[in-house]
Amino acid sequence: MLSVMLSLTILGGLIIACIVFNLAQGSKSYPPGPPSWPIFGVALNHPKTEFWRTYADWGRKYGSSSGGLISFHILGRRMTILNSAADAFNLLSKRSSIYSDRPFATMAGRLMRREKSIFCLSYNDRLKTYRKLMHQSFSSTASQMFWDVEQEEALILVDRILASPQDLVEHLRRNAAAVIMKVAYGYPVTRNDDHFVAIAEEGMCYSRIQIASMASRPGKWLVDSFPILRFVPEWFPGAGFKSKARKWGQTLYEQSLEPHNWVKEQIRAGTAVPSFTSALLQPSDGHFVDAEEEDKILYTSGALYFAGADTSVSVVKSFFFTMMMHPIVQHRAQHEVDLFFMSEHRLPTLHDQAAFPYVNAILKEVLRWAPASPFGLFHSTASPDVYKGRFLGAEPQPDPRDYAFGFGRRICPGQHLAEHSIWIQMVYSLLALTISKAVDADGKDIEPEIAFTSGVVS
Ligand code: HEM
Repeated sequence: MLSVMLSLTILGGLIIACIVFNLAQGSKSYPPGPPSWPIFGVALNHPKTEFWRTYADWGRKYGSSSGGLISFHILGRRMTILNSAADAFNLLSKRSSIYSDRPFATMAGRLMRREKSIFCLSYNDRLKTYRKLMHQSFSSTASQMFWDVEQEEALILVDRILASPQDLVEHLRRNAAAVIMKVAYGYPVTRNDDHFVAIAEEGMCYSRIQIASMASRPGKWLVDSFPILRFVPEWFPGAGFKSKARKWGQTLYEQSLEPHNWVKEQIRAGTAVPSFTSALLQPSDGHFVDAEEEDKILYTSGALYFAGADTSVSVVKSFFFTMMMHPIVQHRAQHEVDLFFMSEHRLPTLHDQAAFPYVNAILKEVLRWAPASPFGLFHSTASPDVYKGRFLGAEPQPDPRDYAFGFGRRICPGQHLAEHSIWIQMVYSLLALTISKAVDADGKDIEPEIAFTSGVVS
């Protein structure tokens, strides 16, 4: 009992010392922010869900007159919110040489042993290798090699929706999984309850909690503000975060390892289908991939499902929702698609994107209205920076695609793959389906609820 009390006293002393240290670090001049408590900062009034909405409100209320740039701290951890596209471009893109690190995450990184994951790495040589490998396959030109996969899967999707429209979301999830698993590992997903998809899904939804979102939620984990808490033993009262981190980290690692090993077996058996992983494991210059290189390949491929599945599903879901709520827009889009089909006597493909200005505009509108990643991912600075000292004036209306996928040197490497996959799903759905509200027993429309989930992916 005495030793527990002594430990608690020491821990309390260390926490206060950390807060004082953090606050001393943060005594420089930052943009304005919401009312803040001494020591706690905004920890007590920080929202638990849809925090981007509160940040936007705070920006309007307390931020600079243009752009709503605000800054605050949570238990000494400083955050600056870029509420306008202009500020995001000016800092994250134009000054990307210093704005491309990720903040050090004790929970989502060190404790979960995810330091080598692309989402945790700062802008170092390892990260540059990951991004180079992805760029080789997913640049605007290179990603065209996956168009056949995206088209085939979009047709399967529409077939399945026609067969059981009530399972729409399940079909969309299967589609995203099938595209990514084929692209990343050459693995064919045939069933909704596929084994590898189940592992990957477990990585995303552990006990119905999204690990990634939970582990990186601002203000959620005390250990992120006070990394010293990582030394608290797992059995210590209140140290449940440690066992969570261990289990979650293991789940995410297995999610990458199993399909990676499956590709290696296929290569050994001479049956490997060309894929992102198989190409990297058998380089065209014929050199032998050593353990260090293989580790990088494992982490790069592993990031694809994690980053690409939920985000793409979110956008296509929002597309279906938009079509259901705006039948006139849907009719106009269907008219564009039908006209093409009737005049060309063939299905449209991704080569025909330019012939569909209205569908393209809908995709932009969906990305603007319901961004899959409304908060993006945190960036942190490699060195201190002064931003003008004054704030910016009016900004032009940018293309939503210029910010829905992030910024600068950390911009989403899967943007082209995602956009093409979403586009072809939209076009084939418009061609084959009419999207409308469900009806009740009396034939009356059931009004759907518009609600977004909170987290890194909404
Ligand atoms: C509609 C679909 C998608 C959206 C909205 C989206 C959005 C984003 C955003 C906002 C970021 C953070 C960028 C930043 O830090 O500034 C990001 C990062 C990332 N995305 Fe995507 N993404 C999508 C699809 C994909 C796909 C299909 C893949 C893989 C094939 C992918 C792979 C990644 C990776 C690996 C990162 C981390 C990059 C880094 O930390 O350097 N994403 N994405």
